[in-house]
This record gives sequence, C-alpha cells and structure tokens, in this order.
Amino acid sequence: MTKISLDLKDYSPLLDDAEQMDIAALRDLQLTRLAWSIEHAYTHCAPYRAKCEAANVQPSDLTSLADLSKFPFTTKQDLRDAYPFGFFTTGTENIARIHASSGTTGQPTVVGYTREDIDTWASVVARSIRASGGRPGMKIHIAYGYGLFTGGLGAHYGAEALGCAVIPMSGGQTEKQVQLILDFEPDIIMVTPSYMLSILDEFQKRGLDARQSSLKIGIFGAEPWTDAMRREIEAAFDIHAVDIYGLSEVMGPGVANECVETKDGLTIWEDHFYPEIIHPETGEALPDGETGELVFTSLTKQAMPVIRYRTRDLTELLPGTARTMRRMGRITGRSDDMMIIRGVNVFPTQIEEIILGLEGLTAHYQLEISRPDRMDILKVDVEAEAGLQEEIANGLAAQLRSRIKTLIGISVKVNICAPATIPRSAGKAVRLRDLRQTQS
Ligand code: DLL
Repeated sequence: MTKISLDLKDYSPLLDDAEQMDIAALRDLQLTRLAWSIEHAYTHCAPYRAKCEAANVQPSDLTSLADLSKFPFTTKQDLRDAYPFGFFTTGTENIARIHASSGTTGQPTVVGYTREDIDTWASVVARSIRASGGRPGMKIHIAYGYGLFTGGLGAHYGAEALGCAVIPMSGGQTEKQVQLILDFEPDIIMVTPSYMLSILDEFQKRGLDARQSSLKIGIFGAEPWTDAMRREIEAAFDIHAVDIYGLSEVMGPGVANECVETKDGLTIWEDHFYPEIIHPETGEALPDGETGELVFTSLTKQAMPVIRYRTRDLTELLPGTARTMRRMGRITGRSDDMMIIRGVNVFPTQIEEIILGLEGLTAHYQLEISRPDRMDILKVDVEAEAGLQEEIANGLAAQLRSRIKTLIGISVKVNICAPATIPRSAGKAVRLRDLRQTQS
C-alpha cells in the first residue's frame, strides 16, 4: 500500500486510554458496569424483569462476571413482542433518537437512545475510525444508508466526533458516488463491501483507474465478507480495507472494529459491550476460541440496555493483539443464513472464498437453493470478468464445482453469468435466494 503510511512512530492509533487498559482493571470496570446495567434493566425494563422473575434471578445474584450466565437471554422476538417502545427504560421525553431494523419478516425491531447514548455511540465509532487509520482532519465519504438503519447516522456522528469532515452521501446513486469521490477527494469511505464493488463497477465503466482515487482507507461492514474480498477491494482501490461490526439492538456500527496495523479480526470495545459465545442450540457458554453464537450485554447504555442479547452471528472470541481488549473473528455468517445442503452446513462466505480464489471470476455472486424433487439443489450464479471466452468460462465453472465439492463436500450447479447481470444492492447484498418454500 503506497497511499498511507502506517509508521507507528508518527501515528498514535489510540483514541483513548481505555483501549489499552490493563486486563485486570478492565474486568473490574466491566463488573461494576455490568452490575449497573443489570440493575437498570431489571428496575426499568418490565419485559426483562419478567424474564428474570421467571428464571428466579435478581440483580444481587451477580457477584462476578461469570454470574452473568445465570441471567436470561434477550432475543429479537422479545424486542418484537415489546413493539414499539416496550424495552425502553424511559419515556420518550428522554429519548434523543429512534432507529429500527428493516426486518425482512414481521415487525421491525425498534431501538432508542438518550442524548448520552448518542455520545457514547459516537465515541466508539470515533475509536473505530481511528483504529482503521483515520485521523482528525481527514474527509470521510459515508455511503451507508441514512435513515432508520443505524449505518449512516452512526458513522456520521462518529466521524464528526473524531474531527473529520463528513460527506453524508448515503447509499444509492452510484454515478454520483463516484463523481463526489473524484471531486471532493475523500480519504476514507464507509460503505458495505458489496456496494463498494458497485462503486468499482462505475469507476471501470468510466474508464477510470480506481487505484488513482484519493481514497486511502475503507471501513466495511453491515454484512459478512471474507479476507478474499478484502484482497480484491484493497488491490482494486489501493486502500486499506478494515472490518466494522455492530447491530442496532446493541448500539449500531462500532461495537467492534479491526485495527489497521494487524487486520486480524475485530477488537471488541469491551468497556461498553460485554461479549460471550454460546452454543447456538443449548445456550451453554463456550470458552474463548470456540466458535458459536455471539451474545452481547451492553454495559453503559441508558435508554435500551440489552442483557445477553443473542445476535445469531457466528464467530469466536480471541485474545487481544493490537489492543488489550479481546477480538472476535470475522463473522462466518448468521445462524439464519446457514444452508443445510444434503446434511452439510454451508455459509455463503465459504463459497465466496472459493469463487475469489479463481482468476476470471468476480465477487458478484448469488446463491439459490431449490428443491425440485425432494433433493436440495444449490446453484451458484457468478459473474465472469468482461471479455472472457466461452471455453475459459466453461473451464472455470468446472473448476468451481470441483473445488466446492472438495473443500465443502457438496455438489452444486454453477452458472457463469455475463458481467452486470447479478442484481446489485446499494446496502446489504442479498446473497441467498431460497426457493424451497414456494416449491414445497
Ligand atoms: O448492520 C450496523 C452496521 C452498520 C454495522 C454499518 C457495520 C456497519 P443491523 O442492520 O442491525 O446493523 O444488522 C446487524 O448485520 O447482526 C450481522 O449479522 C451483520 N453485520 C454487521 N456488521 C457485520 C460485519 C448494522 N462486519 C447484523 N460482518 C449483524 C458480518 C455483519 N456481518
């Protein structure tokens, strides 16, 4: 990478000292905050108190961090049942902002923030941008959607808090995205990785070399993506690509972020969000290093504390590297996205890794599951690079089929498509189409 120096001699990656807190002091702080958060939820959030009463636990049962496992989980369904404001601990006169998840099925999940919550959120996003290599004075182009989705406004307030010049572009209008990148010369872009590929398409359509743009850093999240995708994007734009994670129920973007100097998974801002990994079926707590479902307890949130919120995201907890706080591995997928194809568990990200290992194929792909005849069939639609000869495309299809068979253990159909035929999205990509319900 040539456009930015990450020489740590002239760059302090830390925004605040908490990031390098001594582990024992961090655990003490977490316990104090956890006790406050549980007491606060128990006292002011009637549905959570009811869950505690049903489980026969109360705040005084927490005397160590390990005691957290005695407390009941909070699920998306709990929040839906309390629609719209039943999980808020305060009347709306003390609420400064409301967001909601789009929710493809059923009711949206509504979340609320006090003024102080908004400041806490801005501080963790500012930390995240800093950890990504951003500094005060840089220009940030935000192409996460603005609105009820937490991506746009969450990134916006964090970028302002760090002291950056914010370009609040939002998602969509791809031609204009590129025009503004050319004209305003931002240093950083915050966008979903899949939409970054659409922005790349537009650069190419205009005959421009994306490597020559002003961009130095991309902060990508809101959907699963792979190291193979990181390499593609970094090479295409000559930037550092780092991962940002979050979810509206816990706060929004900025729950965890990769540090640019190591790019080895996401540092969890553990002074605000306490992570656990549990077995997705039994709910039993798993030790660090084991893969399972990620669960978060908010430690400082006022308007809507969440205790043991089940994210459905699958990953593992890892020891700190660039920071003392623990890391989480990349999200391999949500338990809801896991396909079970003839008994084998498969995530779209596994297919993405394999596609991007084959020269001539692009990162534009979509998966379709159907059951024409009692057997599940997985079809992989993937775009070839422009100008690929038919013979070569056929060879690639055979190679992709065989690698998926060897590495994942399932037989799939592969359809190599012409450039610009897979639907693009301006936000989170839809990777999987499941036709089984409509067929059975
Ligand atoms: O996607 C918040 C966000 C905005 C994060 C911008 C990062 C950047 P929700 O719409 O509530 O919030 O969706 C949360 O998105 O449970 C994950 O399944 C997925 N997700 C978010 N970040 C990542 C990531 C925002 N870095 C859901 N890698 C989460 C993989 C991610 N999945």
